[in-house]
Amino acid sequence: MAKLAFLGLGVMGYPMAGHLKKAGHEVTVYNRSGAKAQKWAAEFGGASAPTPREAAKGAEFVMACVGNDDDLRSVCLGADGAFAGMESGAVFVDHTTVSAKVTRELYAAADEKQISFVDAPISGGQAGAENGKLSIMCGGDQGAYDRAEPVMAAYARICRRIGESGAGQMTKMCNQIAIAGLVQGLSEALHFAEKSGLDGRAVVEVISQGAAGSWQMSNRYETMIDDHFEHGFAVDWMRKDLGICLDTADENGASLPVTALVDQFYKDVQKMGGGRWDTSSLFKRLRALG
Ligand SMILES: NC(=O)c1ccc[n+]([C@@H]2O[C@H](COP(=O)([O-])OP(=O)(O)OC[C@H]3O[C@@H](n4cnc5c(N)ncnc54)[C@H](OP(=O)(O)O)[C@@H]3O)[C@@H](O)[C@H]2O)c1
Repeated sequence: MAKLAFLGLGVMGYPMAGHLKKAGHEVTVYNRSGAKAQKWAAEFGGASAPTPREAAKGAEFVMACVGNDDDLRSVCLGADGAFAGMESGAVFVDHTTVSAKVTRELYAAADEKQISFVDAPISGGQAGAENGKLSIMCGGDQGAYDRAEPVMAAYARICRRIGESGAGQMTKMCNQIAIAGLVQGLSEALHFAEKSGLDGRAVVEVISQGAAGSWQMSNRYETMIDDHFEHGFAVDWMRKDLGICLDTADENGASLPVTALVDQFYKDVQKMGGGRWDTSSLFKRLRALG
């Protein structure tokens, strides 16, 4: 069992840190708004610290799941950042979805202090985090990954190292690109069914068993039909992710026309007040068009 720190107790981080504690590790958490850290400590019986540096002190592994590139920099760097508290030989595991650029920048900063940095973004949603069944795609040094993998097993359904630093984040971009077009397609199918007077539930019961089936279709069709979007993966986060994908495509020359279009549809959802709605709210946008 290891001494661990977990930074960022949001929708994903809160239950993930809980799985680590339940697996028997010694866990100290940090959250920007302290009340959540205290609630976590009371619920799971771990410790909480007021800064990333103090949480990370003496930890063998420091896991993080915050918001975006700047949020990650702010919990890693500076006088109160985790790197200042970590000892040589410790491993930082980042579960945030961020750019490969910031990942490589922090990998280099960590390396200067003889700290390992593994990028380990996640997929599987709130339910995956709560049930401990996330897909984790990793980049970084093989040795550091091999040490971190048994720790991540507490909340992983599958965990794989894809390549060097940044490869995990590049894989997460593939994941988001695949989801963007898929959710719009599902929304259009349900919209078409509604316009045709078909029972959307009956339609999905059949087509989800055929070639059109997907995680999004099976897990989201009921809430979409019921106009329920106050859960899941926030549109604001999806726009952050698609922005990263589109910027990276500018660099590597990939052509992402559907991803660019769906990003604009999510911008419409934000204008409807849906920044924190689940990404399946693309269907609500179509309904609003009439
Ligand atoms: N939700 C999903 O289904 C899902 C799935 C896969 C990947 N992700 C990715 O996982 C990450 C977290 O998502 P989430 O849904 O858990 O987000 P969330 O519920 O909004 O939680 C974000 C967490 O980051 C902390 N944070 C934000 N900015 C910070 C800063 N500058 N300094 C310190 N802490 C900061 C927040 O602290 P406060 O509590 O103080 O605000 C909170 O603990 C994102 O990168 C997201 O894209 C999410």
